[in-house]
Amino acid sequence: MPIRYSYSEIKKMTNGFRDKLGEGGYGSVYKGKLRSGPPVAIKMLTKPKANGQDFINEVATIGRIHHVNVVQLIGYCAERSKRALVYDFMPNGSLEKYIFSPEGKLSLSCEQMHEISLGVARGIRYLHQGCNMQILHFDIKPHNILLNENFTPKVSDFGLAKLYSTDDSIVTMTAARGTLGYMAPEFFYKNIGGVSHKADIYSFGMLLLEMAGKRRNWNSSANSSQIFFPSWVYDQFAEGKNVQIGEITEEESMMVNKMMLVALWCIQMRPSDRPSINKVIEMLEGNIELLQMPPKPFLYSKGMHAENNGMNESLSNLSGACMDSLTCDISGR
Ligand SMILES: Nc1ncnc2c1ncn2[C@@H]1O[C@H](COP(=O)(O)OP(=O)(O)OP(=O)(O)O)[C@@H](O)[C@H]1O
Ligand SMILES: [Mg+2]
Repeated sequence: MPIRYSYSEIKKMTNGFRDKLGEGGYGSVYKGKLRSGPPVAIKMLTKPKANGQDFINEVATIGRIHHVNVVQLIGYCAERSKRALVYDFMPNGSLEKYIFSPEGKLSLSCEQMHEISLGVARGIRYLHQGCNMQILHFDIKPHNILLNENFTPKVSDFGLAKLYSTDDSIVTMTAARGTLGYMAPEFFYKNIGGVSHKADIYSFGMLLLEMAGKRRNWNSSANSSQIFFPSWVYDQFAEGKNVQIGEITEEESMMVNKMMLVALWCIQMRPSDRPSINKVIEMLEGNIELLQMPPKPFLYSKGMHAENNGMNESLSNLSGACMDSLTCDISGR
């Protein structure tokens, strides 16, 4: 079980919050050091969004789980309004740095990307069925995949996760949560199916496509047919064209194609059309020849462009049944 720290211990561990690693929706993350030596990352929950219940959920959830592909929670602090989570420190930071690095400066090889995608999938499998509770993440995205010294991926951030008993996998959501761009369409459209473990499969698919393409799914500065990457990738496959990404070998190209095909299965509009995480792992490990061409994942793709200003719209303003406009990227929030 995670260790409880006092606020003054947290202050000492972070050397007075000297080294800030980053900031997310829940607060800031600082580098720290345990008295016994090992480095840690300490997330201070500051913004009002981080209410007490969210905090307790996160502690209860992560405190219970141990897996090579899941970030380990070491401790926490809950002293009046001061709340903190203490995690294992991941020296290579988060995955988005490597996917979206300008001019491929921090680029990882296709093989590494494939390995990482399998690790993430195994982390998700553990959350979905490895413990006696079913843990649904609901915020799978490149920022929440951290890399240790060997580039072993670790799924992080269960601020949005909740615990569900395994026989009750359909969840009723009162409010949409997660990050636009990776959020499954059933959060917006109730008539395509309930919110379940398949929502994480959708987010994983969007992440997988970005990993394979080494670009954001939504990129308004791309060539107009490629603005929404998933539609373009689908069309390329449907027309039997090659999805070429720079100078790569035959073997690498097969790996990229395999990741893209699996991703297109994962981002199917209807939850019931998406594979389970076991099937995803089987497909990623298996031969590309065994993969079938998925049906079109969207209501329509070719010629449809989402409005760039859709990024600023509130969810209630998102109109129409155009998935493209729901899958824009607002990660720069
Ligand atoms: N355990 C960790 N080890 C090393 N760096 C970390 C760790 N946890 C977080 N970070 C760094 O801190 C940054 C901020 O993380 P944080 O989770 O607050 O934001 P986010 O992932 O971008 O968004 P969200 O709030 O939706 O999770 C991360 O991008 C990462 O670089
Ligand atoms: Mg995060």
